[in-house]
Amino acid sequence: HIYADAKNASRAVAHEIAELIRSKQREGKMAVLGLATGSSPKTVYAELVRMHREEGLSFQNVISFNLDEYYPMEPNAVQSYWRFMREQLFDHVDIPAGNYYVPDGTVRPEEVAEFAKQYEAKIDAAGGLDFQLLGIGGNGHIGFNEPGSLINSHTRLMMLDNSTRAAASSDFGGLAKTPRKAITMGVASILSARRVVLMAWGERKSPVIQEALEGVVTEHNPASYLQTHPNALFVIDEAAASQL
Ligand code: GLP
Repeated sequence: HIYADAKNASRAVAHEIAELIRSKQREGKMAVLGLATGSSPKTVYAELVRMHREEGLSFQNVISFNLDEYYPMEPNAVQSYWRFMREQLFDHVDIPAGNYYVPDGTVRPEEVAEFAKQYEAKIDAAGGLDFQLLGIGGNGHIGFNEPGSLINSHTRLMMLDNSTRAAASSDFGGLAKTPRKAITMGVASILSARRVVLMAWGERKSPVIQEALEGVVTEHNPASYLQTHPNALFVIDEAAASQL
């Protein structure tokens, strides 16, 4: 779906999420959301907060799992995705404490594999993801699944690409201080969601969007794996669509 601008596009995405939450409420069930960080989803979270405040949209029946976190990372550090999610969404809505999860950037290296297994087990125990929200990196990464990630990859520690680190370096006061690793849900974990919505705004994303949508399915552009998903949608603005 191509929208004139990010604001209108974000509103449509927020409305789909709100509709999912409400329909689950009517059934007395939990809505299990996979959430994303980065600048792209900020406008979606802002719209959800507005709907909570002005329209009484409740998050009491929401469980959420974030895609990724830098490693190592303290939860209260300014760059942490845990903090990002609280500031953008969780602190402003009525989601019960304990219902939202972000990969833990403080686990010891030898515990990461076990942590990753448990993270996926929690998603399974919640009934699997009803909805996965995604942004896209300039190199096609989804979550932090960098190029080379396999379609059957699961939650794990990932070495970040130089281009990814460079894009994040201004948040960390330079490349040398930018983390080299992240914990990310895998491609298989993302593709297991019953619905996937990827968002991209701006001219900068237009080449990678063109490749992901119209190119071959390849590990060189992990977002291209979404072509294999039966219920995936790209929501983009006109600038991001300019090379289609
Ligand atoms: C980071 C995140 C991704 C996100 C990407 C794009 O690398 N780990 O989940 O999609 O950035 O970010 P932005 O939306 O700011 O362009």
